Amino acid sequence: MSVRVIRTKDELRAALRPRRAAGETIGLVPTMGYLHNGHLALIRAARERCDVVVMSLFVNPTQFREGEDLESYPRDEARDVELAEGAGADFVYAPSVEEVYPEGFATWVEVGGGLTDVLCGDPGRRGPEHFRGVTTVVAKLFNTVDPDVSFFGQKDAQQAIVIQRMARDLDFRTEIVTVPTVREPDGLAMSSRNTYLSPADRERAPALYRALSAAREAVEGGAGLDAALADARRVLAEAGIEPEYLEARYADDLTPAAAFDGGRPVLVAVAARVGAARLIDNVVLGPPPGAGTPAE
Ligand code: PAF
Repeated sequence: MSVRVIRTKDELRAALRPRRAAGETIGLVPTMGYLHNGHLALIRAARERCDVVVMSLFVNPTQFREGEDLESYPRDEARDVELAEGAGADFVYAPSVEEVYPEGFATWVEVGGGLTDVLCGDPGRRGPEHFRGVTTVVAKLFNTVDPDVSFFGQKDAQQAIVIQRMARDLDFRTEIVTVPTVREPDGLAMSSRNTYLSPADRERAPALYRALSAAREAVEGGAGLDAALADARRVLAEAGIEPEYLEARYADDLTPAAAFDGGRPVLVAVAARVGAARLIDNVVLGPPPGAGTPAE
């Protein structure tokens, strides 16, 4: 069956109703388009788990701060639809801004608990409003699609954690699956924003993953988190990259992690501007060998 592009909530609900009534399971892959292999891995994971796969394609204006790249965000719907079909999507839901945010829109979904005002949500960076935009649009997608399973990328680890909390707190019935980051051969995490990198910056950008790998190796060699972060910082400095943040936080609640506490997995997350691109990446680390149960 070829993919069907749908523009409105009503049309999408009508298309999904008989499938659900027939007992089929529905998978949702939310995207902002300009698909790369990371997105395709999400669609393939949905294809494996679910009978019906819906990919949403919507550059969500409410998650961009004034002065960010909303206008220049790369867009190519025809290419996205073709790629989504190749990866196994049944429906591409590509609504207009007015369909998602009708005149007079005034209701927001905000996750608290210290999850949205740290790392990317720090008010000096993208701010908690970024996550408010994400959770509002994702909540709307959950309401429209009513998915059995929803798929998000580990590259946006904080986003995945925030959405998990929202789904739990607001009783969305969907299961949330986090799919591992897909990387270029040199380790750079795939991102639609990699298109902003000049050739010289593209050469420097894999330093983010090299830095995270250095942290991982340090921990595996028995070093503490502070020493591991110092190693990571050195790798970034060698590439001339000043991180916006490079932090270790517990992966369950994003509180700062100074040590492996009771075997809790630790998220080491980095964000950095490399030329015109703001890049993020992360690894999840377990305690050093012999100190508890590894996270991965
Ligand atoms: O990860 C993204 O591409 C976006 O934040 C999402 C989840 C599609 C919401 O707009």
